[in-house]
Amino acid sequence: MNDSASATQSFESQMGGPSHEVIALATAYARTEAAGIRVADLGCGDGRNSFLLAGVGCSVTSIDNSAQSIGRLRQLAAVHSLPIEAQLCDVRDLRLHGQYDSILAHGIVHFLEQSAATQLISEIKQATKPGGYNVYTVVPFQNLDDIPSDMQAAGYKGSLASNDVMSHYRDWEIISAELYRKWDWHPGVGIHDHPIEKTMFRRPKEGSRGLIRATEISLARSQVSPLSWTPPLISSTIAKSKDQVLAIAGEPDLAIPYYAAGPQFSFRGFAQSGYLLELMFYGNVVVYVANGIVSGISVYATNAYRFDIASQATGPRGTPLMPENAEGA
Ligand SMILES: C[S@@+](CC[C@H](N)C(=O)[O-])C[C@H]1O[C@@H](n2cnc3c(N)ncnc32)[C@H](O)[C@@H]1O
Repeated sequence: MNDSASATQSFESQMGGPSHEVIALATAYARTEAAGIRVADLGCGDGRNSFLLAGVGCSVTSIDNSAQSIGRLRQLAAVHSLPIEAQLCDVRDLRLHGQYDSILAHGIVHFLEQSAATQLISEIKQATKPGGYNVYTVVPFQNLDDIPSDMQAAGYKGSLASNDVMSHYRDWEIISAELYRKWDWHPGVGIHDHPIEKTMFRRPKEGSRGLIRATEISLARSQVSPLSWTPPLISSTIAKSKDQVLAIAGEPDLAIPYYAAGPQFSFRGFAQSGYLLELMFYGNVVVYVANGIVSGISVYATNAYRFDIASQATGPRGTPLMPENAEGA
């Protein structure tokens, strides 16, 4: 076995494979000139999104206050010769140098007190180039009693309500904003559910339309889903195969594939030969199938989005990522 395969073989990732909106971003960058693109991944954790973006040639600054995560990501970057600068840092002390094309804050802002969250959002905005993206995923529990013990132990502050992040971006282009309740699996935690708010913003730039197109998918909230999804059914479906879902629920109303080539973080470990994440929509229920296995299920409170690559991202193609038929018209 070569070094790169052995560095990833036994690694059980906390968060699974890269997020679908980050796969879209990486695909857009891979089709432009990713070598000059700077991305910051704040609270990078194991680095599933950093790894993907660096793999297409972006220079990635990855920040986390976990020495274990940063140490492992440095090792992974060295073995795969990836342009990742992994920094051990508390984001409350963060001062970003220079300007970034994109800044990701996935699963981090809700661990901060309100004043620190506001300070971080302002730091993120000012360090973003015109035309650049800010991408957030936050967990806005409304009721502190609902916060699971592992999140409390990790320092969840409960200082964030849904729409709080959005309120800081009234002067930017809002690319997408989704709210849903998601059931998924993490090692040591098992299957659990939490509210998720995912947003993407773009700093305005005159005369430029951006690399990503987000098309709102109007979900039929009142439609009775083929599985009449209930929490016990959702929980028992996680880790089943796509074929098992199709056998019970039939064909979805809509299926959107996001694909990342090469070795990638994946559900319960590493996938050496690519990561295919399929979003299968049944009414307002979305089933996430990662390399043929159900990795999570969400019930949407808002509409969802499909992320496509805008036609202006037509430069030389780097690593093939999303399949051609996933492109917007
Ligand atoms: C839920 S994980 C998300 C990891 C990664 N962004 C992902 O999507 O896979 C949250 C991460 O935030 C990090 N974190 C929490 N509070 C932090 C802080 N104040 N400064 C830096 N990192 C922090 C944790 O160590 C953890 O790796």
